[in-house]
Amino acid sequence: MKESKLFSGRRIPLEMHKPKIVQKLSLVPTSRRLEAIREAGFNSFLLKNDDVFLDLLTDSGVNAMSDRQQAAMMVADDSYAGSRTFTRLESTCRELFGMKHFLPAHQGRACENVIAQTLVKPGMVVVTNYHFTTTKAHIVRNGGTIEELPIAEALKTTSDHPFKGNMDLHRLQAFIDERGSENIAFVRMEAGTNLIGGQPFSLENLDGVRRICDAHGILLILDASLLADNLHFIKQREGQCQDLSIRQITRKICDLVHLLYFSGRKLGCARGGGLCTNRDDLYQAMRELIPLYEGFLTYGGMSVREMEAMAVGLEETMDEEMINQAPEFIAYMVTELEKLGIPVVTPPGGLGCHINAREFVDHIPQEEYPAGALAAALYIVSGIRGMERGTLSQERDAAGNECLADLELVRLALPRRVYTLSHVQYAIDRIAWLYQHRQLIGGLIFVDEPKTLRFFLGRLDALSDWPERLGKKFESDLRAI
Ligand code: F0G
Repeated sequence: MKESKLFSGRRIPLEMHKPKIVQKLSLVPTSRRLEAIREAGFNSFLLKNDDVFLDLLTDSGVNAMSDRQQAAMMVADDSYAGSRTFTRLESTCRELFGMKHFLPAHQGRACENVIAQTLVKPGMVVVTNYHFTTTKAHIVRNGGTIEELPIAEALKTTSDHPFKGNMDLHRLQAFIDERGSENIAFVRMEAGTNLIGGQPFSLENLDGVRRICDAHGILLILDASLLADNLHFIKQREGQCQDLSIRQITRKICDLVHLLYFSGRKLGCARGGGLCTNRDDLYQAMRELIPLYEGFLTYGGMSVREMEAMAVGLEETMDEEMINQAPEFIAYMVTELEKLGIPVVTPPGGLGCHINAREFVDHIPQEEYPAGALAAALYIVSGIRGMERGTLSQERDAAGNECLADLELVRLALPRRVYTLSHVQYAIDRIAWLYQHRQLIGGLIFVDEPKTLRFFLGRLDALSDWPERLGKKFESDLRAI
């Protein structure tokens, strides 16, 4: 957008919306934040919202709805079977994704359950550009394993590669030759690859993956939860797509996959989820599981109001002026932090700004969860809630050993249409203070560790009184301003 350039030569991210309803925030004092993080077992998932100033935990289910979405919710047609609302959502998906079948589900991981139960048999492997926590858990529960084949650049935190979410096509070919296509349940491409920092894949790469899948008769499945940002990056960064509309790019992507699923908590700024395919056999096989786990075929665990909001939200995702909003805010935050010498994932991706905790607190070993410790420290000095995406988010192996993560990241997600530039500037300022005092941050240890998805409910303790010492230094510096 030309208008976002200032005459000074700088560029500011512009919101192409205005808030019509607001919610009051509270910023509790440092002393309360110290208590709150202890009460939460140093796990940002367990903090209560009353203790949180900026909730950058996730963009899942917390993106702001538009006036048009709210209005649509008023005309929702409430019925168990055959509701008009479902037909509207189904036709929106058919039109946007070019797929004739749509199955509703209550959220993204519910789609993963249906897919894994249908396609993953014990001993089979799912090949992916990178795993996502819930996806992997469902595949493993059904007796399968995950093989990640990203390009080498994906795991370099700083890079100028425009498509770090790409799959390594040579490794994919070699892996199929080695394992045999009959042992591969499907290939999964995740748009806006979450755990490596919201990094996109290119249309060209997806096309290459599909060619290899076709040559071996393997299914290609798209996790489209973070498709919106990926679409924006394809349009921005992939030469051959610059003159295509967001809608056209969407169709090109969808034409390359056999099935797609999404979390409606992300794609469509509502809640819920869905699966889409043109394949009658897949539709028939998966349809069976929807009434069993989700609800009748015309609601799948969603309320009709959510379905109305999702139909409008999916349409709005295609808006050429709106789609760049989150990526532009994220790029601003990443660039400003980079200027201050703070280690962040580059190039800026979608979903949020990702701090490289491995470098930020390089004195904390991975076994002491540096990203979890950094997320807790940031909360103490700012009231900002981020999310650990590192070893804490991994599961132990069968023998009980830690599986050290490739990357130790603190994710600061930017929910769409929620926070303002002054919020982002506050975050940058507090992160900068924390970076100067990073030696005060110490490690964490589990005191209550669930076996599955331990990052959600696990409780930890600090390995010393570092939180109190950090809080004290922060308070005295704050008083001196
Ligand atoms: N796939 C991706 C890429 C996701 O990011 C998520 C959720 C899911 C699937 C599961 O969808 O939450 O609707 O069940 N990501 C959230 C996050 C939880 O905070 O990144 P869900």
